[in-house]
Amino acid sequence: MKVLAIMGSPRKGNTYKITQQFEKNLKKYRNVDFNYIFLKESDLKECIGCFNCIRIGKEHCPLKDDRDNIIKQMLDSNGVIFASPVYMLNVTALMKKFIDRLAYNGHRPQFFNQDAMIISTTGGMGLKQVNKYLKSVASIWGFRSNTVLGVITPPFKLKDKIIKKKDKDIAEAAKEFYKKLSNSNWSPSLSNLIQFTAFRAIADVEGMDEILTADYNFYKPLNDKKFYFDVRVNPIKYKIANILGNLIKNSLRKTIKKD
Ligand SMILES: Cc1cc2nc3c(=O)[nH]c(=O)nc-3n(C[C@H](O)[C@H](O)[C@H](O)COP(=O)(O)O)c2cc1C
Repeated sequence: MKVLAIMGSPRKGNTYKITQQFEKNLKKYRNVDFNYIFLKESDLKECIGCFNCIRIGKEHCPLKDDRDNIIKQMLDSNGVIFASPVYMLNVTALMKKFIDRLAYNGHRPQFFNQDAMIISTTGGMGLKQVNKYLKSVASIWGFRSNTVLGVITPPFKLKDKIIKKKDKDIAEAAKEFYKKLSNSNWSPSLSNLIQFTAFRAIADVEGMDEILTADYNFYKPLNDKKFYFDVRVNPIKYKIANILGNLIKNSLRKTIKKD
C-alpha cells in the first residue's frame, strides 16, 4: 500500500510533525510505503490563466515543471495526503498554487483509485474553512473518500510532549483512513453522480466540441455509462443525478441561444 503526502507548508514545522506522527500510526496497521512531496522544494510554477488545460487538455499547458511528475506519483498511490497549515483562514499559497495547476481535474477527474487524507494545522482559527475547501477539492478531483484531521497547534515548533497530547486524535484519523483505504466496496455518492452527469451534460451541448474540446472528448465515450468507470451505481441516485444533468444542459442551451 502506497501513501503520498503533499506538504503545503513552506517549512518542516508543525504540519510535518503531525504528518510524521500520522505516518507512524498508519504503519501500525500495515507496512505502508509512505512518501513525501514538499511543494516548497518542487518546481511548480504559478498558473498563468491561459485555460489551455481545462479547454483543450493538460498537455497544452505552456508551463514545464514538476506538475506531471507529481500527478504520476499521486496516481501511483492508494492514498494521498493534502497537508497544509492555515494561512489567513485559507490554505498556504504553495498549496493553492498546486491546486490551481491541477484545476482541470475538476472537469475531468481521474483519482478514482485513491482515498484522500486532509491534514491541517492552525494557531486557533480557520481549520473548518480549510478542511471544507480541501475536502471539496479532493472530491471533485475524483477521490473515493476523504478523511480529515485538523490540529490546533501552538505558534512555535511542536515539542514531542505536545505531539503526545494530540496522538489520540491522530491515531483515530489514521485508523479511519486505513479503513477507507481497505474498502473494496466503494460506490459513488449522489454528489459524485451529479458531478458526473452535470459535466457530461455540459460537454454534450452543441458547440462544446470547440468551446471545451477536452471535456467533449472525455465525456463522449461515457454517454451511455452511469459513471466515469464501471462500478456499482445506485439506480435511484443515478436517475436523480441524470435529471439534474439534463436540466443544466437545457438551461445552458437556452443561454447560448440567447447570446
Ligand atoms: C503567514 C501566516 C498566517 C497564518 N494564519 C493563521 C490564521 O489565519 N489562523 C490561525 O489560527 N493561525 C494562523 N497561522 C498559524 C499557523 O497556522 C500555525 O502556526 C501552523 O501550525 C503552522 O504550521 P507549519 O509549522 O507547518 O508551517 C498563520 C501562520 C503564518 C506564518
